[in-house]
Amino acid sequence: MTLGVIGVGTIAAALVEGLGGGDILLSPRGATTAARLARRLPGVRVAASNQAVVDGSGTIILAVRPQVVEAVVRDLRFRPDQKVISLVAATGIDTLRGWIGLDLPVVRAVPLPFVAGRSGVTPVFPPDPEAETLFNRLGTAIPCQSQQEFDLIAVASALMGSYFGILETAQAWLATQGLPEVSARTYLAGLFANLGRVATDSQQDFAVLRGEYSTRGGLNEQLFRDFLAGGGVAALTLGLDGLLARVRGQ
Ligand SMILES: NC(=O)c1ccc[n+]([C@@H]2O[C@H](COP(=O)([O-])OP(=O)(O)OC[C@H]3O[C@@H](n4cnc5c(N)ncnc54)[C@H](OP(=O)(O)O)[C@@H]3O)[C@@H](O)[C@H]2O)c1
Repeated sequence: MTLGVIGVGTIAAALVEGLGGGDILLSPRGATTAARLARRLPGVRVAASNQAVVDGSGTIILAVRPQVVEAVVRDLRFRPDQKVISLVAATGIDTLRGWIGLDLPVVRAVPLPFVAGRSGVTPVFPPDPEAETLFNRLGTAIPCQSQQEFDLIAVASALMGSYFGILETAQAWLATQGLPEVSARTYLAGLFANLGRVATDSQQDFAVLRGEYSTRGGLNEQLFRDFLAGGGVAALTLGLDGLLARVRGQ
């Protein structure tokens, strides 16, 4: 069955790259990216219009920005046998269905650019076997049973900036103390890459891993204790609370 994609920008390109081709029909906007994907990947074609994507596809992925999605969707005529997978942020399922004007299955998903390398972890709401199969090909799908579960993963996705912020802070501190910046960068990037592998390969709770990676009375134990005492954990928790309120309000 043909997979249609409307809005061929950063995230759609990552998704199509990760699929490596297939029976995929792209919308014409984002022309340079669409043309590049069609040239490189077998089975990927560019349609003449957004409506031609809908007419020629069974399932349609919506990947335009939130600011234009209403105009884009209202302009299209869907068929009752179709499905829409929306990657659009801050746009609820009922709203989308209202603009579509038919009672179609509408599924939301939030892939990240890691899907290009088939290592993306993608929440899918509501659970949908077709969408889960798609995102399992691109890494791992997480079916969400409720809007709350979906919102919580959106909150978790906002840890990316803080992750780099921790690396940035540690690198700057090391450099101030006299370690060449390039050595600090190489060391920290390698350390965190290995920790990421431990986190994904292990089935242990993170609290257990923290214990395993903190010798009693050692440097790791001391740093986390100071982080806690200095308000680091409280600040992170407060920040997550604030994000959840913001995501729920959208
Ligand atoms: N980037 C991410 O990591 C990410 C992750 C998850 C979800 N999302 C969501 O995915 C959506 C797209 O994000 P993005 O980062 O990929 O944005 P983007 O790079 O700006 O891509 C949006 C694409 O939509 C195209 N477009 C604009 N108007 C259109 C229309 N009327 N018909 C068809 N296509 C049209 C644009 O084409 P032109 O270039 O010709 O203007 C552009 O190629 C957003 O809703 C975002 O919330 C993004």
